[in-house]
Amino acid sequence: MKTPFSDDLFRRFRDLLLARSGIYFPDHRQGDLYHNLSMILPATGHASLETLYAAASSDERVLHTVIEGVTVGETYFFRNAAQFAALREGILPDLIARRGAIRSLRFWSAGCATGEEPYSLAILIQEALPDPASWQITILATDINATFLERARAGVYGAWSFRETDSSVRDRYFEQIGEARWRIRSELRRQVLFARLNLVEDEYPAMMNGTTMQDVILCRNVLIYFDDDTIRTVVRRLYRALTPGGWLIVGHAEARSDFFAGFEVVNFPGTVIYRKPLTAPLFDEEVALLQTPMGRRECSAPSSDAVTAPTGAPALLPPAPAELLPTCALDASESETISCDDAPDAYAAARRAADLGDLETALRLCATLTEQQPLRAEAHLLSGQILEQQGRFEEALVAYRRALYLDHTLHLASLAMAGILHRTGRSADARRIYQRLLRALAALPPNAPVPSLEGATAAELQAFVQRQLAALNDPAPGGSRLA
Ligand SMILES: C[S@@+](CC[C@H](N)C(=O)[O-])C[C@H]1O[C@@H](n2cnc3c(N)ncnc32)[C@H](O)[C@@H]1O
Repeated sequence: MKTPFSDDLFRRFRDLLLARSGIYFPDHRQGDLYHNLSMILPATGHASLETLYAAASSDERVLHTVIEGVTVGETYFFRNAAQFAALREGILPDLIARRGAIRSLRFWSAGCATGEEPYSLAILIQEALPDPASWQITILATDINATFLERARAGVYGAWSFRETDSSVRDRYFEQIGEARWRIRSELRRQVLFARLNLVEDEYPAMMNGTTMQDVILCRNVLIYFDDDTIRTVVRRLYRALTPGGWLIVGHAEARSDFFAGFEVVNFPGTVIYRKPLTAPLFDEEVALLQTPMGRRECSAPSSDAVTAPTGAPALLPPAPAELLPTCALDASESETISCDDAPDAYAAARRAADLGDLETALRLCATLTEQQPLRAEAHLLSGQILEQQGRFEEALVAYRRALYLDHTLHLASLAMAGILHRTGRSADARRIYQRLLRALAALPPNAPVPSLEGATAAELQAFVQRQLAALNDPAPGGSRLA
């Protein structure tokens, strides 16, 4: 297709989009890219695609607008019935059997678009799990497109989104709010945490944004827009984000065996699903780097036992609401050494070990750090998060209290404390902490970034805390609560 889009400008946009979003426009899609960019151009205030390109290369906000202009959000409830049947008939029974003792499961819809996929998952879990009230379920839903996420949070859908959904299911889990408009019921909406996450960026798996130790990841109809190198990198990261025995579900067109080395291929009727072997080590080769000192003294060398995967490794509780957490940009490069002589490195190394799921090593590093620098609030905060992930709630509460004693602006610690108290039935204490947090937040300008929650503003955190308070007063009948 001949367009006023010069080949040179096409290539520059193509390379920028590929580098920053993974989305790849091959030569034969030059016309599509031109069309998408022309559609957004008037709203950007730029007179030409040339100046739009210059702005997108230097201004993240413009770049996001451009990325949003080229993302495709096609989705609907229960898309690909064979995969939902596999979840219901095969995957959930497997997980229920393996996690019966711990009663905790983690799901991630990566590339969730406007939310139909994670809400379908919430409905399926609600229907398939015997006694859902006694399970701790987290459903994380992420996307690169903030506008899609806003619509997902609103949870209002038209008839087209229900084109493969039985009307009895729609009527049970949605309320009609107008002609051919339905809103997801609030108890289901509360079960899904939406957050912006760019799959091509180096921000996952990370404990801090809730992307580690997943039991099931759905990344469907997302990889199809990426080039082959990006697909391999993303699949490798998703592999690391899974627990041993965890499942990765991709779209039909994406199931190309050469991308999924290391996974087991499991055939279900009408679909193929990938599984991280149960025997896979809980931690991968990056932990080996953490464990290999190169020149400097190591804090405490973790024994090789520490990296052996227990079969059916426990699913972990979310450290804090993912929608409010900063994306975790770790400053420790992979070749760094862990040294007790260098406190920032020890802290970064502890964070990194925690992100990789090596909680014992992370805790040991934190213990050394808090011994050497007992007044370092964030080291106590990190200890609390690790202890919480290990299910050691009372010890986590002590660590959070210490963090807050040292720095009362560490609101993440308050939030985590209230979450534990909420989950463990101490509603009055949880309520008190949420109310105190609301008072502290009221003193900040609405747009002020909240210390320790870099990604969130005071207004956003206030809204979140108010929702938690409402949930305390009106517990979801399904009972599966999020931290
Ligand atoms: C076609 S939709 C798929 C929605 C849903 N998973 C499904 O299968 O019905 C593709 C989604 O991937 C998202 N996406 C594209 N590139 C992404 C990236 N680099 N990181 C995260 N999400 C991305 C788009 O914004 C879009 O919402």
